[in-house]
Amino acid sequence: MISGVSAAMYIRRKRWWLAFHRTAGLLGSGAILFGAGAAVSMVALSLGEHFRIGHTYLGAATAVCAIAVPVLGFFQFKAGVRSGMIRAMHRWSGRFTLLIAFVTILTGLWLIGIF
Ligand code: HEM
Repeated sequence: MISGVSAAMYIRRKRWWLAFHRTAGLLGSGAILFGAGAAVSMVALSLGEHFRIGHTYLGAATAVCAIAVPVLGFFQFKAGVRSGMIRAMHRWSGRFTLLIAFVTILTGLWLIGIF
């Protein structure tokens, strides 16, 4: 996801930036959703009690963003007169997704005592 966002920020003069951005972004979203699925299964098979702590809500919010951002990315081309607004929402929600994903990862590492 970081490489996809970097492509949109720094290599927009290359012809292939959008194909790269789209593919890297979708792979990033896929990885986040796969991780969220693994976390839900892990909790279901152990404690069985979901959404106990802050990290889990951050993870859920990250997963929602990982779905919403690419949907907005595709939808901006179909939104007609509202495409400018959708484009701005895509840009800001994309930046926010990187931030919240990073905080989710840090709190997860903290939970398992990595730092
Ligand atoms: C989770 C996946 C994605 C993330 C996190 C993401 C994030 C971003 C961000 C942060 C920007 C703005 C970069 C900047 O200028 O600062 C951007 C731009 C853009 N993204 Fe995505 N994106 C994703 C997927 C997609 C998809 C699937 C499409 C569909 C084709 C797409 C189309 C675009 C386009 C066209 C722009 C340029 C908008 C403009 O003209 O300013 N993105 N994206």
